[in-house]
Amino acid sequence: MQINTVRTLYATPPTAAILISTIDKNNRNNIAPFAWWNVVSKDPPLIAVSLKPTTHTYRIIKEQAEFTIGVPDPGLLDAVYLSAHLDREPDEFAKLGLTAVSALQISAPKIKECQVNIECRFRNEFECGDHILVIGEVVAVDVRDDLVHEDDAVMRKNLKPLGHLSGNKFITMEGVNLEASKPQADNKSGKE
Ligand SMILES: Cc1cc2nc3c(=O)[nH]c(=O)nc-3n(C[C@H](O)[C@H](O)[C@H](O)COP(=O)(O)O)c2cc1C
Repeated sequence: MQINTVRTLYATPPTAAILISTIDKNNRNNIAPFAWWNVVSKDPPLIAVSLKPTTHTYRIIKEQAEFTIGVPDPGLLDAVYLSAHLDREPDEFAKLGLTAVSALQISAPKIKECQVNIECRFRNEFECGDHILVIGEVVAVDVRDDLVHEDDAVMRKNLKPLGHLSGNKFITMEGVNLEASKPQADNKSGKE
């Protein structure tokens, strides 16, 4: 059945919600959730996030040129949703019951309760319809100790993403593990 193209997003699989933590020039932190994001380069590691230009997050990233991405697990459901509805609280960490931890390379704090924190420096941006695609270069990644594994697939499997469906509806993204059979003559380097 044909659906209205405006609903394209809802015909694509859900993506994991992230929390972007920023700190402005007056030392006030800001936290907000985003779901339109992805890793877009491995070397250098680059992450793209699609931001409405009206968000405080976008404004602060343009001002400070840095941001931290926290990857919440389903236990942070209410904090994630509430964070979309805060309008420049004096301390958004306190309001959300989250703990700010100093980042390694940048001033935007990490979120202690997140399973992964990724520190990014603003690299460039592209106008994308009603959003701006912001590209950040990853300068540090902190994975919770119990999730770290030398096998990349296992480490990824250890994550518990919080998928965003629509509005206040979310979905856990744990699934059945599958392993594709490998072609016998594999001359391509397309490991991913
Ligand atoms: C789970 C979730 C995902 C969201 N994803 C996006 C997104 O990818 N891009 C965007 O511009 N807004 C997104 N929003 C809306 C922003 O979070 C919302 O505009 C928020 O108020 C921005 O906060 P800020 O002004 O403090 O940056 C999302 C909201 C929720 C609840």
